[in-house]
Amino acid sequence: QDTRLARIASAIRVIPDFPKPGILFQDITTLLLDTKAFKDTVDLFVERYRDQNINVVAGVEARGFIFGPPIALAIGAKFVPMRKPNKLPGEVISEEYSLEYGTDKMEMHVGAVQPGERALIIDDLIATGGTLGAAIKLLERVGVHVVECACVIELPELKDLNNYIPMTITWCIEKLTDSINMKGNGRDRLGDKSLFVLIKGGA
Ligand code: PRP
Ligand code: MG
Repeated sequence: QDTRLARIASAIRVIPDFPKPGILFQDITTLLLDTKAFKDTVDLFVERYRDQNINVVAGVEARGFIFGPPIALAIGAKFVPMRKPNKLPGEVISEEYSLEYGTDKMEMHVGAVQPGERALIIDDLIATGGTLGAAIKLLERVGVHVVECACVIELPELKDLNNYIPMTITWCIEKLTDSINMKGNGRDRLGDKSLFVLIKGGA
């Protein structure tokens, strides 16, 4: 009998050498085609966060826009898009972060969140953590409490040490409501931020 996690993992397509040689691309578009696996993915997050008084689900462009809104609706939180630069029409605050080559910027509308609100940050995948790190900084700069970050997939091969953010990773092991902390994979050094992940990405 398949657990939900096994079904989700097998619905993610892995494509070698995309977008460039040596990268194993984790393609979540095939997960979206499997109606049961997609619903199970959303449900696993909703089960974890529904009773945590979360006001804000912040989704990181682009793939955080896929998983964030259904979670936000289900737990009764507003959805706040964290966008690539020069996309938002209103006044923004922005945060630069480093990529493998060069830097990128993430932007959020001023006034979308209020000091003291409790946020969950959603993305499809964590690799170096640079993207999630920028999202955490943006929200904390305006006085929001980041309850946790959550991703569908964690990529084990971590290349850019400059992007590291100290994190405790909690794996969903799907024992009804339980989960465990896995230490020692490099991002638990201070355990200052908490990341919840469903699937270990790889081959
Ligand atoms: C990918 C992925 C995460 C980020 C993870 O997004 O969706 O957002 O990279 O990498 P990191 O942990 O090293 O920061 P990408 O910027 O490729 O764009 P997309 O979501 O718009 O497709
Ligand atoms: Mg992304």
